[in-house]
Amino acid sequence: KILILDFGSQYTQLIARRVREIGVYCEIWAWDHDPEAITRFAPRGIILSGGPESVTETASPRAPQAVFNLGVPLLGICYGMQSMAVQLGGKVESGHAREFGYAAIDLSAVSCALFNGLDDHADSPDTAGGRTRRLDAWMSHGDRVTMLPPGFDLAASTESIPIAAMLDSKRRWFGVQFHPEVTHTRQGGEILRRFVVDVCGCATAWTPAGIIADAIASVRAQVGTQRVLLGLSGGVDSSVVAALLKRAIGAQLICVFVDTGLLRLAEGDQVMATMAEHMGVQVIRINAAPRFFTALAGVSDPEAKRKIIGRLFVEVFDEEAGKLSDVRWLAQGTIYPDVIESAGARTGKAHVIKSHHNVGGLPERMNLRLLEPLRELFKDEVRRIGVELGLPHAMVYRHPFPGPGLGVRVLGEVRAEYVALLQHADAIFIEELRKAGLYDTISQAFAVFLPVKSVGVVGDGRAYEWVIALRAVETIDFMTARWARLPYEFLELVSLRIINELRDISRVVYDISSKPPATIEWE
Ligand code: XMP
Repeated sequence: KILILDFGSQYTQLIARRVREIGVYCEIWAWDHDPEAITRFAPRGIILSGGPESVTETASPRAPQAVFNLGVPLLGICYGMQSMAVQLGGKVESGHAREFGYAAIDLSAVSCALFNGLDDHADSPDTAGGRTRRLDAWMSHGDRVTMLPPGFDLAASTESIPIAAMLDSKRRWFGVQFHPEVTHTRQGGEILRRFVVDVCGCATAWTPAGIIADAIASVRAQVGTQRVLLGLSGGVDSSVVAALLKRAIGAQLICVFVDTGLLRLAEGDQVMATMAEHMGVQVIRINAAPRFFTALAGVSDPEAKRKIIGRLFVEVFDEEAGKLSDVRWLAQGTIYPDVIESAGARTGKAHVIKSHHNVGGLPERMNLRLLEPLRELFKDEVRRIGVELGLPHAMVYRHPFPGPGLGVRVLGEVRAEYVALLQHADAIFIEELRKAGLYDTISQAFAVFLPVKSVGVVGDGRAYEWVIALRAVETIDFMTARWARLPYEFLELVSLRIINELRDISRVVYDISSKPPATIEWE
């Protein structure tokens, strides 16, 4: 296993995902984690991440000394390389300007286990005169290493920075100024693979089948013959937990599905069809829609709506759970990004999308212990094991859906008839996206119901009906997002279908706001 020490870079999770894609287990810890725990963790190699600060400031983060005493291979990326440089006796200076974007890296003649044989421009015409090999790499930095620490050799340079990579081949310590974890660095995956597999000697056993086998063994060891309760939401995480627990403990698993009436069209039935019929999971379905609509009547403030939905969800779930006897465990779909103890999280920089399904009070009252079988997994790993466990691909790769559901997509007061209109409009939009092959090219798409009336002409008559807004965005982390450039013809088709098929809608608009300043959801 590999340890990644986080200096607060926005790319740290990406490093971990890349390492795991290679098939090697890794964890992310903050740079100031207890050094003794690092020694106990006994990683085969350590990666020092990038970070937003400058090593030229005396109060900025440094790698713990334990990292250099363990005798394992090290890879410092960007800030991680700079902190290695200053800590090991080299020099770093603040650059004159930030460098951001592509850079051509010239690999030096020195043999480097990470770069040997790599060349992004092998067929370029100037190969003749003994040209150095080059890589296209992604840079994002202000500072630069200006003097190598003792024992290090130069491994690469660019036109603007003489020391773009360094290595100490004896100690197997490497530093790269560029970011191998981003896909813009074409050989980045190969460089990381060479580090964790060739240099550190890690086996590539972290595969979906391996992850499932581990999780099953550990769940069985934890719960024995006791019964486990799971709240099914229709989302990916809780569905994968259900499928996994079904494999691990069979009939000891009992699922409660609270249908709030605020899910997508026919989603409640789909959850039952997939989980209960297809996967053979025992599911108690509670049709709580009337209670949600009653509680939401007359409420138009978004935060108030969120609170009501969250509170009522917990209430309904608790009531049902209270009827069950001899349940000892509460399973939750917590995933790794929620638990990472990262530098970013503590400084408030990392993002956390909070689930509103916080059944926090229940475990104490019912004396339940928490079971979180996805705690170590990233979303893409959760999806891969979901498919491996037999969940339908379309379900596992669905766009994210907010906890409060359509409650925040019907703007203002939530009424059953508005929700019904929205569900149909949304279903038309999504169906057409799938048909056009666009669904998987965008990150999130949905319809929003605007409680605004607008005039139109229908046949010979005058219509005065509601408005639907369509939203589609492209994003990597949902922190920033760009509105999707959907083809005009496609938008026209969706608009026509919605207005023709839904009598109460007379106008469709497309949202061309990016985030920031707008958010993805409208409320
Ligand atoms: P915003 O609107 O903040 O959305 O740009 C970012 C992502 O978070 C989702 N979202 C939520 N998810 N409970 C959730 O579980 C919520 O209250 C909530 N609000 C927004 C949104 O769908 C998008 O993917």
